[in-house]
Amino acid sequence: MADDKENKKIGLKTTLDMVVEGCRLPVKMSILPNEEEEWPLAEILSRKEEKGKLEFYVHYIDFNKRLDEWVLPDRLRVEELQFPRKDQKTPQKQTSSAANSRPTTPDRELQEKKTTVDRSESDSPSPSLLSKKLSLPEQTSSPAAKLGGQGQTPQSQTKSNAGRKRKAIFLDEKQDLPPAYCNSLSLQDSQDAPATPQPSAPPQQPRQTGSMSSSHDENIITRIKNIETIELGKYRIKPWYFSPYPPELTTISIVFICEFCLKYVKSRKCLERHRTKCTLRHPPGNEIYRKSTISFFEIDGRKNKMYSQNLCLLAKLFLDHKTLYYDTDPFLFYVMTEYDIKGFHIVGFFSKEKESTEDYNVACILTLPPYQRKGYGKLLIEFSYELSKFEGKTGSPEKPLSDLGLLSYRSYWSQTILEILVNLKPENGERPQITINEICELTSIRKEDVISTLQHLNLINYYKGQYIITLSQESIDTHNRAMAKRKIRIDAKCLHWTPKDWAKRGKW
Ligand code: ACO
Ligand code: ZN
Repeated sequence: MADDKENKKIGLKTTLDMVVEGCRLPVKMSILPNEEEEWPLAEILSRKEEKGKLEFYVHYIDFNKRLDEWVLPDRLRVEELQFPRKDQKTPQKQTSSAANSRPTTPDRELQEKKTTVDRSESDSPSPSLLSKKLSLPEQTSSPAAKLGGQGQTPQSQTKSNAGRKRKAIFLDEKQDLPPAYCNSLSLQDSQDAPATPQPSAPPQQPRQTGSMSSSHDENIITRIKNIETIELGKYRIKPWYFSPYPPELTTISIVFICEFCLKYVKSRKCLERHRTKCTLRHPPGNEIYRKSTISFFEIDGRKNKMYSQNLCLLAKLFLDHKTLYYDTDPFLFYVMTEYDIKGFHIVGFFSKEKESTEDYNVACILTLPPYQRKGYGKLLIEFSYELSKFEGKTGSPEKPLSDLGLLSYRSYWSQTILEILVNLKPENGERPQITINEICELTSIRKEDVISTLQHLNLINYYKGQYIITLSQESIDTHNRAMAKRKIRIDAKCLHWTPKDWAKRGKW
């Protein structure tokens, strides 16, 4: 009997020895108590043994990377172990960010034509409902062909894509290594200490080529969360993804970050020492907006390099699909803060290229986790479009969007467009009309995004040669209820900002 147990133990040990990087097997997800156990298929990304304690870093195949975690052997179903095949890669699942964020080709005819808006009792146009509608010229092709088919529903935010094309946010050809792997970079104790990494690195470091298409998926180190916890102001936050902080910070349990200048240090003592020297009580740069307790600061990535780099390092902890580079010069950062007697506390931010050839009005956007799902993301998005309105341009966020990015943008676009449609007044007793272009002008939302949103909302119908937007009373009510919940809004009167023509300035 005792022998049997011993044999089983040895058997398990042997099996665990076989659980190596690239293997797949069902793993029990850490779930809330009282919830049903889930054993999704996961890939082993790494294993470690410290003081006799064996742990495995797993990625759940059909779930977002932010759920990746270290697990103990008892959560592995080793009897269902699959060995890595030579050709096997983590599936590049087509998901919200990749598939849905790319709008279908806009239909020119549709954009230029007046679209009739019908606020009716039903979603599907019936002759009786259409009696109130204006006619549009006959179309020859079907709406599906014209509009590129039905928009897709975004997937659940947790079951998101495992892989997608990544885009760089900060590109510097000269410095192609993350500071975490540069010997010369250590924790700075002074605000003026250089944060710029030197390209001297040990072997086995992650390679960052500076190419927009470089993928972290090939790179095991950057696939593993390296910072356990950060403390920022009154919050302790668990990071979601890898960020290239210096290696000495990856072995400690908490990284302390000054909430005003974003400098990172290794202990509370260091932070306290830093706070005696750091005079900032708000982000650097100009406060360009203030209403009630909400402010926005505009920070020039060239003038406030240290702050901008620290902000990027912090942001990378929660952004997976962006590759971090160190040249912040071409970017402006708009940091949103909430004020109390202690100062202006960072809530979130977005970055924006000074000159964007593709008319992106946001490069990266982030609400810090303690503030998420409270409407701040939409406030940031609203602010980014307010800037575009001041510039007299339409804009769009840089692609790909993350799963949460897509959810937030979809929600913002839907509400903004519906708000216009719902408030359209009939002209001379006729049914209200509006073109896609007019919607773009009013909102600064790019055409493709307007069209994909209308499709996604399933509002566009094609009937007797006309494109018709049909709004049911139910969708109007739902919209009104959602708008009533949006308590904090951007007030354009509180924005004190003049857009700069960066192209004319020659140099950023
Ligand atoms: N689960 C379900 N829905 C969510 C979630 C979630 N975890 N997070 C946001 N949403 C939905 C909200 O329900 C809301 O929709 P609704 O009003 O129609 O219900 C909408 O998204 C916006 O919610 P907010 O509270 O305004 O947004 P939040 O402050 O949470 O910020 C953001 C959204 C910025 C995307 C945040 O989740 C974040 O920082 N994520 C990590 C970084 C990231 O992915 N950024 C976007 C990358 S794309 C790019 O940078 C261009
Ligand atoms: Zn500081």
